[in-house]
Formats: sequence, C-alpha cells, structure tokens
Amino acid sequence: VIVTKPLVGQRWLEVLVGADCRVEQCLDTSRPLTPSELRRAIGQRCDGVVGQLTEKWDASMMECLKAAGGRAYSNVAVGYDNVDVAGATRHGVAVGNTPGALTEATAEMAMALAMAAGRRVVEADAFMRAGKYQGWLPDLFLGVTFHGRTLGLIGAGRIGAAFALRMARGLHMDVVYYDVYPNERLERCVQAAGEMFAQQGERPIRIRRADDVEEVLREADVVSLHTVLDASTRHLIDAQRLRLMKEDAVLVNCGRGPLVDEAALVEHCRRHPQFRAGLDVFEDEPRMAPGLKELPNVVVVPHIASATVVARTGMCTLAAANVAGILRGDPAWSKPDVSAFLEADSAQAMP
Ligand code: GLV
Ligand code: GLV
Repeated sequence: VIVTKPLVGQRWLEVLVGADCRVEQCLDTSRPLTPSELRRAIGQRCDGVVGQLTEKWDASMMECLKAAGGRAYSNVAVGYDNVDVAGATRHGVAVGNTPGALTEATAEMAMALAMAAGRRVVEADAFMRAGKYQGWLPDLFLGVTFHGRTLGLIGAGRIGAAFALRMARGLHMDVVYYDVYPNERLERCVQAAGEMFAQQGERPIRIRRADDVEEVLREADVVSLHTVLDASTRHLIDAQRLRLMKEDAVLVNCGRGPLVDEAALVEHCRRHPQFRAGLDVFEDEPRMAPGLKELPNVVVVPHIASATVVARTGMCTLAAANVAGILRGDPAWSKPDVSAFLEADSAQAMP
C-alpha cells in the first residue's frame, strides 16, 4: 500500500500492518505530488493507495493503479471531488473517504471563521501589532452581533447540521436552510433548543427549510456552505447571488473553493466594505484570486478546517482502514468506531 503523504498518529499504520500490508510512504514534500510522481509511486506493484485531496485521481490514474494490481483507494478527506469514482469503478478500484471523523472539527472552524470575520478579529489583531491602538473608542472596529439573527445554511448534511446546531444553540440564532433533502433531526434539535430558550424566558429560536438557495441568501445574516462540489454546485455563489445577500452579511466557506466564484467575491467585498467572508478553501488552491488578500473584510486560512489532532488522527485511521478492509475482502472490517480510535490515538499524538 502506498501512502502519498506523512499521516497523523500511529493507528493508521497499525491498521495497515495488521492487515498484512507492506507500507511505502512517499517523500515528505509539502507540495502535492504531480501525476508523474504518483505513477512512479504506484510503480509495478501496488494493491492500494491512501491518497490526498490535493492529488488528481482521474480515470487514467485509476487505470495505472489497476495495472499495478490495485483494488483500493482512499482519500484522507470526506470530500472526493478529486477522484473519478465512475472511472475507478470501471477499473475495479473501490474508493473510500472519511465521513464522520471531521464533522465537529470542521463545524468548529466554520464557527471560528464566522466569528473572526463578523467581529473583525484578524483586522483588529493586525491593528494592535502595528501599534495603532490609542485607546477605547465607541466606534472602533464595529462588527455584527450574532445573537438573535439568522443563520443560513446551504447543505444540511453532517457538517452543515453540526455547525447550524452549534450556532443556533450557542449564539441564539434562527436557522434557514436549503438542502434537497430535509434534515428532520436537525429541525427537531433546533426546536428543542428553542424550547430551552423559552424556558429561560428568552425568545425561542426557529428553523425552516427554504424552497431555494435565493431564499436563504436574502434572509440570512450568516451564510455557510456545506455542499459537495460537483457540476451542479460549481459557482453556487456567483455575482448575481452575492447581490441577493444582505450588505453586512458574513459568508463562510469550509466546503470547496469552487462553490464560490472567487473573482466575483473579491469584487463584491470591494464594493461592500460591511460584507465579510471567512474562507478555508479557494477556487484554485493554493492560489488566491487576485485582490483577495488585500481585502480587510476577508479572513483566509489554508484549508485547515479539519486540522485538529483528534480529527486528523481519525481521518488517517479511517482512510487506512478503508484500504485494509477492501484488500482483506471484507469492507465491514474497514468500519472502525472512529471515536474509539480517537481517544487513544490523540493522547499519543499530543506533544
Ligand atoms: C477536506 O477538505 C475534506 O474533504 O476532508
Ligand atoms: C467595555 O469595556 C465596557 O465596559 O463596556
């Protein structure tokens, strides 16, 4: 089994070795492997790959893997837009991802970005470091209050729902969401939180499923994107839809960069200094659209939403277990209880 980047924790290696795999790790480079480097890594014989979202696993790469005897590929990621699953299937290669292992970590980063952007934390930090602070002022770095306002969610799957519930319960926000599937469990949880607020003598919070994306954009004060990236969601947020949003709205993207037309976002943020964005992902990583990094109303971090010791240890373990299970001919073997792996392993991985 080849592992294309150094991973986190020890358990992933124990899982592969426990399945009688010989593990070869690729050189430690901080840049993604190119297609020719991947082909070289696969070589003459390779049964399975634990790969990265930064690599392009298209049909021709899957054909190369198959030619080397490969039957299994897993991303160390929940997203898999870098993998041609149909092409893999045609070549008899099973594909895995890591749902569940990064739900909370990613939801927490979406919260961090929403609050950092809405309360101008990064701008204010730069101001302090530049020695510009001369004392408290009534109008210094005014941002938005989250309490009592409306959270807009586009995509109410695992991560989106975890984020919405935390924002609703923690910050007392109403939720309006768009998803092709209703999330009744999320609706029940937010309603229950609403009753909790009512018992405290506070206004209950509400949740509603919108008929379309536009309805969410018009009503929400914070909009967070949690959909998969595919042909139907590319540029889900474009210039026209940005114009529907409130002037002082906060847009958060911890999903995939191409969900947003980044050039249009730059233009929108330039025209509307009250509008704010918190971005973990970019349309053409590792690049940023021209002008983005000059904007004070945008907070940018380098695709680290799942970057906690616990989440990354779990993702690496699950990705290894996906490959090991397929190679052992027993996919069920590849369904470890992620939470059980996490506690033991994160204790070891903590410095
Ligand atoms: C990270 O972007 C992931 O898809 O897990
Ligand atoms: C601010 O520091 C306040 O006391 O309101």
